[in-house]
Amino acid sequence: MIQIIDICKLLIETRGYDFTGYREPMLNRRLEKRLFATKQNNLTDYYNYILQNDDEIDNIIDVLTINVSHFFRNPLAFEVVKNEIFPKIILKKKETSNNIIRIWSAGCSEGQEAYSLSIALDEYLKEEKQNFEQFIFATDIDKKALKKASDGIYKTQSLYNVKLGTLKNYFIEEDNCYKVSNEIKSQVKFSIFDLTDKNRNYPVESIYGGFDLVSCRNVLIYFNINAQEVIMNKLYNSLNIDGYLFLGESEVPSSKYNLKFVKETSSCKVYKKIR
Ligand SMILES: C[S@@+](CC[C@H](N)C(=O)[O-])C[C@H]1O[C@@H](n2cnc3c(N)ncnc32)[C@H](O)[C@@H]1O
Repeated sequence: MIQIIDICKLLIETRGYDFTGYREPMLNRRLEKRLFATKQNNLTDYYNYILQNDDEIDNIIDVLTINVSHFFRNPLAFEVVKNEIFPKIILKKKETSNNIIRIWSAGCSEGQEAYSLSIALDEYLKEEKQNFEQFIFATDIDKKALKKASDGIYKTQSLYNVKLGTLKNYFIEEDNCYKVSNEIKSQVKFSIFDLTDKNRNYPVESIYGGFDLVSCRNVLIYFNINAQEVIMNKLYNSLNIDGYLFLGESEVPSSKYNLKFVKETSSCKVYKKIR
């Protein structure tokens, strides 16, 4: 009898996507949707259906990689990052005469999070007349999402948290959509990266980790404890000492990190790596 793990193995073999670390109830719910959509009665029938319909593999990948995102998701958290975390990063950089700020948006979906960070940092640097360069690496496992991210064109639904001034300064209106300005696009580099890959700690494109801020929001929630540990280990290792980890509203580092991270603010999930 075919089980979920057999479908996961098929996804690894055919497309190289590894969903074995996903929470089982989540996998169940998502696959049920596809069984319903393809009118299959059980996993065995569905497995045979996939073998005969190669396109269905892309449909499974679509339902499993949940790409929901928008600009400045949880606006308060982005306000905190802009007005409390960026100043601390800059202060530390000045002590070492380093004027480059490195950020990783891990699980960036269609780019909204990475661009929001880039815009918030650019606004802060301009407001405070600070002369720093920003390098933002943004990664996801989903190639389709990364293509949209690189295009940088969004419907208004993605932008409801964007303030009018920010919209005017950083977006160009085009055919009922908004395009991220070239200035911001040039600061964000998108690439594919599987957060559960045990062999790599950070995106190859970044050459080395050494990030001042790692944002991994609304990603950990989809994974089981073992996969969460693999991901957390990566996030931890890629950060500089005194670097910041920015998680989603319902995510926390596991107890293993109690002595390695301190919560930086009570208003959102930002943690500072202290050792
Ligand atoms: C709900 S979205 C979160 C997007 C954004 N971080 C936010 O908070 O708005 C989750 C993203 O995680 C990505 N993802 C899922 N599994 C992944 C993996 N193993 N490695 C990297 N990204 C993954 C999905 O493709 C999806 O784009």
